[in-house]
Amino acid sequence: MADAFREKVLAGKTAFVAGASSGINLGIAQHFARAGARIALISRSHEKITAAAKTITDEGFDAIGMAADVRDFDSVEQSMKRAQESLGNFDIVISGAAGNFVAPALGMSSKGFKTVVDIDLIGTFNVLRASFQYLNRPGASLISITAPQAVNPSVFQSHVCAAKAGINMLTKCLAMEWGPAGVRVNAISPGPISDTEGMARLAPTAEMEQSIKSRIALRDYGDKTDIADTALFLSTDNAKYITGTIVDCDGGSKLGDAGADALGEFA
Ligand code: NAP
Ligand code: COA
Repeated sequence: MADAFREKVLAGKTAFVAGASSGINLGIAQHFARAGARIALISRSHEKITAAAKTITDEGFDAIGMAADVRDFDSVEQSMKRAQESLGNFDIVISGAAGNFVAPALGMSSKGFKTVVDIDLIGTFNVLRASFQYLNRPGASLISITAPQAVNPSVFQSHVCAAKAGINMLTKCLAMEWGPAGVRVNAISPGPISDTEGMARLAPTAEMEQSIKSRIALRDYGDKTDIADTALFLSTDNAKYITGTIVDCDGGSKLGDAGADALGEFA
């Protein structure tokens, strides 16, 4: 069933993926290529994004990797122009570039706070705003990658909470403004995803990982394919009436501590 769903459902489509040199976003890019899409990828590091694109072309699919910093509108715009010239207008845009570090507000400078807001929130505005002129309209699907911190306040994450909350609201505003043009704008909020830089920073020890798992309804981390499948669904006509939505793909982790202590023998 899963394979039947994935099989070339994106044939003939072009996807632009920002923040795609590693992790969840590279997982989405690879998944979309296997589903038939041509892929343009950007991140800051020329070396990393070239290697990421090669993982896709090595499988026999079309991909170009370009260095671009989402904090710099012109650099994003130029990469999109290049992508559009070689792969055509975009049907799908994924905005997933992010930065995170664990620090109390009193332990970060104004520049530290701004750095994360610039990458996550301003970067998302830049990617979505620059993409509009290159979209196949109507029908395009724009997806930002947000996080549970957007709605769950957290110590040592003030910068990320503020930035991701902004992404959630931006998603809804752009869905309203661009809906009449037939452009859908959604976000995915992943829970803890295994083998990612994000979780390596947030839960660096096995004990912390176990503690987090014990408070998730499904008692486990997700994997990159869980997020890629969610993005795939949102990018097909099956989701043609979904816009302005934040889709949680998190094993129920946003529900609370999921009875970690109270459930006992009923767990
Ligand atoms: P990751 O592998 O570190 O991915 C972040 C990507 O962003 C990298 O490819 C990085 O590449 C790129 N990037 C950073 N700054 C950039 C900039 N200024 N311009 C362009 N690209 C930039 O992290 P991840 O854990 O997979 O996270 C991916 C997304 O999922 C993020 O939006 C994150 O907030 C979200 N998320 C993750 C989790 C999780 O469990 N991991 C949970 C919830 C949400 P370069 O270094 O080459 O620039
Ligand atoms: N605690 C407090 N402040 C920190 C910090 C930490 N752990 N790490 C960085 N900062 C501050 C720096 O001190 C600097 O501020 P200052 O000049 O006033 O001291 C500011 O943040 C910018 O740091 P810099 O290293 O110049 O930024 P950068 O643009 O090169 O890198 C980061 C951005 C800091 C977000 C870096 O961690 C990064 O590149 N992350 C991408 C990967 C990632 O975070 N993946 C997980 C995604 S969920």
